[in-house]
Amino acid sequence: MRSMMAVAMMLWLGVNTVCAQALTAITPGEVWPDDKGEHINAHGGNVMYHEGTYYWYGENRPARGFTTEVGVGVYSSKDLMNWKNEGVALAVSETKGDVIERGCIMERPKVVYNPTTKKFVMLFHLELKGRGYEAARVGFAVSDTPTGPFKFIRSLRPNAGKWPMDFTKRDIKRAMALDEAKYKEWWTPEWRRAVDEGLLLKRDLPGGQMSRDMTVFVDDDGTAYHIHSAEENLTLNIAELTPDYLDYTGRYIRLAPGGHNEAPTIFKRNGVYWMITSGCTGWDPNEARMFKSKSMWGPWEQLPSPFRGEGANKSFYTQGTYIFKIEGTDQYIFMADRWIPRSLKNSRHIWLPIEYDTDGTPLLFWKDSWTVDN
Ligand code: GAL
Repeated sequence: MRSMMAVAMMLWLGVNTVCAQALTAITPGEVWPDDKGEHINAHGGNVMYHEGTYYWYGENRPARGFTTEVGVGVYSSKDLMNWKNEGVALAVSETKGDVIERGCIMERPKVVYNPTTKKFVMLFHLELKGRGYEAARVGFAVSDTPTGPFKFIRSLRPNAGKWPMDFTKRDIKRAMALDEAKYKEWWTPEWRRAVDEGLLLKRDLPGGQMSRDMTVFVDDDGTAYHIHSAEENLTLNIAELTPDYLDYTGRYIRLAPGGHNEAPTIFKRNGVYWMITSGCTGWDPNEARMFKSKSMWGPWEQLPSPFRGEGANKSFYTQGTYIFKIEGTDQYIFMADRWIPRSLKNSRHIWLPIEYDTDGTPLLFWKDSWTVDN
């Protein structure tokens, strides 16, 4: 008995020693322990660098179920491999009837720093409690510090009453003439054309465009853009934010209307914007898509998926969430989730370094393990 206890004690100590050891590599798809030895519970999120520290924000997901019970989690790191759990950045509300009441759905949070207001701004996809995915809203929250607590400000559907900036008077007239009752069946050539011409855009004009999967991108000049799946996830909108990042300027374009793109991720390198998205198959992986442009306002050119090798047709069984740069280098990291819907909390993090073709086109190759050269 005593020896069994000794063995148990040794095992326990062993486990804890492993947990306490500093990680020296990123191992995509494996459990990624934080400073307490717990798998990092920050999904669909982003990484922000601020004054020598990286902050990782993401959905804190329960072991079972699909609704948000805690909020948005935040972790900090100096080396991108070892992460300290900094707790909850944005907590759900315990007040019944609140917009972010526990049991709502908070997805794909993105935090960026606004140097003018000196505030950390969080945008996230919000679904209201008990209403599935029908609300399709974006939530805004702010904080004076990177780890929060963030204060929820409001949620909305973007750009109510605003037509895309590239819609001419003729385009508006044509969209206004479309009759939704005539296009009940999806994916017919007529329906595709009508979507392209603004069938759903017009439907959502009064209350604002739908906003589900999303990211935020801050350009070199400090202008921020909210990129979100609109029109029943059929179209991606690129919407310019006001200088405080808390509202919309009203300038936006539609990218690939009817293209069914989700999970937008974006970066800019050598003057070219690269966007990597997924298709729309819920938690199941699909083949990524890529777009390129010399301006946020397009024209955007669609390219094949950047994934290469075995499993590339399913994006290595992942869905992207963000792209960020390792500070002081030209190295970008593609962050993705390998969703485990039966236990979302345990969904795996797949981080891969972006590589390039000879002409500078991004490529993603699988790696069992790789080290960040800080
Ligand atoms: C995915 C989306 C996730 C989540 C999920 C729900 O397509 O990227 O963020 O919304 O659907 O089924």
